[in-house]
Amino acid sequence: MSKDAFEIVEEISKKLSQIKIDSVEELEKFRIQFLGSKNELKSLFGEIRNVSNERKKEFGQAVNALKSQAEEIFAEHKFALAANESKKESASIDMTMPPSPNPQGSIHPITIVMDRIIRIFEKIGFTIAEEREIEDDWHNFTAMNTPDDHPARDMQDTFYLQNSTEQLLRTHTSSVQARVMTTQKPPIRIIAPGRVYRNETISARSHCQFHQVEGLFIDKKVSFADMKQTLMYFTKEMYGPDAKIRLRPSYFPFTEPSAEMDVYWGLEDEHAYRITKGTGWLEILGCGMVDPNVLKNCNIDPEEYSGFAFGMGIERQAMLHYRINDIRMLFENDVRFLRQFNSAM
Ligand code: DAH
Repeated sequence: MSKDAFEIVEEISKKLSQIKIDSVEELEKFRIQFLGSKNELKSLFGEIRNVSNERKKEFGQAVNALKSQAEEIFAEHKFALAANESKKESASIDMTMPPSPNPQGSIHPITIVMDRIIRIFEKIGFTIAEEREIEDDWHNFTAMNTPDDHPARDMQDTFYLQNSTEQLLRTHTSSVQARVMTTQKPPIRIIAPGRVYRNETISARSHCQFHQVEGLFIDKKVSFADMKQTLMYFTKEMYGPDAKIRLRPSYFPFTEPSAEMDVYWGLEDEHAYRITKGTGWLEILGCGMVDPNVLKNCNIDPEEYSGFAFGMGIERQAMLHYRINDIRMLFENDVRFLRQFNSAM
């Protein structure tokens, strides 16, 4: 008598549960035997005619269960074998080998100085406003009280975009003042770090691109004394508690009154002598009370609000700090130069 169909199911199930797979080859053999196009389970379908009608459903379920069992075994072993493979690979790594040198980058001196300045102003509640470098004439000049025919436009040689009298590379971060004042309501307390461009001959002392940090404070009853206190605080944080500053009257179209601030650096060595032009004083920023015309241009009522602004150059401070005597070094990205800032704060 031929075997009962259920007995065959039983046999295959037993076979499956005793199966041993230790290699990729064995796994492949298993796949062909139980899951391939001519697998053993398929032969069971022929057996269905030997099963009584009442048990046909039960038989079908048993065959399906076998198939799932085979699939599970396959998946499990495949995973285990792969894990084993990668373990073998990592075992072949020689932990005693010296590591291959992993070159570490360094922070650019401009970034170091900018970050320091930002941190100092953040401590007293200034937030960062970052804006576009391609500006329009209005934000860069007109809003800042420098209309077309204003002689102060000559103070800053401008790069215009090709075929445009409107689009330009911002000549100062003061354009961010106009961006912020036209979109935010006072009180405003921001600093705007960023790159600016001027059409200037490149030399050891000047470049056609450089960095500034702009500051703007607008509220009710802001005074010149508030500005002086803020700048004093900044200088002491940046240059030490004994730092000396001086404010000299100056002129900017967007401030009235305007001033320039110098920090005393001394004349101790030749580098200091050169960079301070023999005075010991380094001019680091322009500042002043925001001109009422600027407030008006940006829809802020000068009867209700007043404020101060300042804009400082970063390159000169970085050069002084790190004794760099050619501004071009800051833009050439020579790794022999940059590497020296590896351990800088
Ligand atoms: N924008 C001026 C420049 O680039 C610097 C400056 C002066 C900015 C006075 C100010 C300011 O905000 O109040 O030379």
